[in-house]
Amino acid sequence: MRPRENIGVFDSGYGGLTILKEIVRVLPQYNYIYLGDNARAPYGTRSFEMVYRYTGEAVKKLFELGCRLVILACNTASAKALRTIQQVDLPEWDPEKRVLGVIRPSVEALGQYSRNGHVGILATRGTVNSLSYPMELEKLYGKQRFKITQLACPMWVPLVENNELEGEGTIYFIRKYVQELLTADPKIDTVVLACTHYPLLRPLIVRCMPPQVQVIGQGHIVADSLGDYLKRHPELEERLGTEGRVTYYTTDEAEWFERMGGIFMGEKIKCTRLVI
Ligand code: DGL
Repeated sequence: MRPRENIGVFDSGYGGLTILKEIVRVLPQYNYIYLGDNARAPYGTRSFEMVYRYTGEAVKKLFELGCRLVILACNTASAKALRTIQQVDLPEWDPEKRVLGVIRPSVEALGQYSRNGHVGILATRGTVNSLSYPMELEKLYGKQRFKITQLACPMWVPLVENNELEGEGTIYFIRKYVQELLTADPKIDTVVLACTHYPLLRPLIVRCMPPQVQVIGQGHIVADSLGDYLKRHPELEERLGTEGRVTYYTTDEAEWFERMGGIFMGEKIKCTRLVI
């Protein structure tokens, strides 16, 4: 009989739902467990040690809940914790299990978007300071191909976590960071929303951006990359349950997650509170 293991999707809060939504759209057959560490969000302003510790705890919890594979649907966690978890922790916890992030697939996809190589990366302070995007881009494409301008947008995650997705205050903070980015490099033709919370603000970001600038979210990129990964790893794919079920957990109040998460997923959801 098929073992029926799950795919875990983790984020500091609601942002990872923008990734989950696309993954479920592209790969609806599998069983998913979403975990939002809402009680300890945001991660973007926390130290390397704290993000690594919190992410490790969440990954272990998702393994306990029957996940064989966990996607860190959070750039900050991918930037600060993924490598150590993959290289140091997994061999000890369980060498059969896998943890993947969102930065590598985004960097791989970027080659097909920018025409002039001028790319803006909008992210949390943690992701920007980690230099993960410039380093991964240089590794993959060499030094010359892209001119990268990074900008931290610390006000955007709190806006999303509080469901402030429109209105004058929100527009003010979107315009502020967009202008700052384009002042730093007016030639930018492609902007990556390198924080999984930001796609919720995408309509306003696009509105504040000049029309020639493409604004790229990561959901479809990560979903396609996961589909590809599962094709290349049939030994893992064969162990996954295929009832098409999505289960939600939060480390904070379940009712609030159901309300907010329901808005983000566009459907009614049931959530359980979890201590990690
Ligand atoms: N959604 C997370 C990311 O992609 C970060 C949000 C936070 O600061 O907790 O970086």
